[in-house]
Amino acid sequence: MTIKVAAIIGSNRKGSYNLKLVEYIKKRYSEQLNIQIVSINDVEMFSADIEENPPKGAMEFKMKVRNAEAVLFAVPEYNFSIPGALKNAIDWMSRGGHDLKDKPTFIVGSSMGVLGSVRAQMHLREIISNPTLQPKLLPGNEVYIGAIHTKINEQNEITDQATSDFLDQVVNNFVEFYNKVK
Ligand code: FNR
Repeated sequence: MTIKVAAIIGSNRKGSYNLKLVEYIKKRYSEQLNIQIVSINDVEMFSADIEENPPKGAMEFKMKVRNAEAVLFAVPEYNFSIPGALKNAIDWMSRGGHDLKDKPTFIVGSSMGVLGSVRAQMHLREIISNPTLQPKLLPGNEVYIGAIHTKINEQNEITDQATSDFLDQVVNNFVEFYNKVK
């Protein structure tokens, strides 16, 4: 049985390494995970004035997350935190239906620097611990891929053995976790 996963790409950049990382995960683990890539690019700016009647982009984003069995966040780091565009999408998920609530979720992230988006992921964990979001988050299994530009090739293949071995472990752990908590 494959798990239907909405993979939220935290970057709105065409050449995003975090998107490439999810393309890799989607292909390599296709027997365990049925990944739908969910873009934040068309999600309108949140305002409490329109939260009860979300515009098209925000509504489509919310429904993709709501209809999935699980969620994967792929997170870049902007100024020691998550990108504003991702925070905006998360704000939409916290209102009108609580799309993320209790959904089995795991997080990966990468950057070209050495820290692999660790500070952004720490913030993300704190943000989604809000009761209006609160997914069932896979404990541990913190995936910080630094120097990602040296570890993934043009075909979106991870070329670093330690990184691909670690991802194997994390995905196995997530599948076990999903089957326990779903
Ligand atoms: C960055 N980047 C960055 N990297 C980091 O390790 N710590 C940081 O605080 C920041 N800050 C930051 C701010 C802004 C505005 C930009 C545009 C970039 C670098 C960033 O993490 C890197 O470009 C990643 O490759 C972005 O992710 P994607 O788009 O490749 O998925």
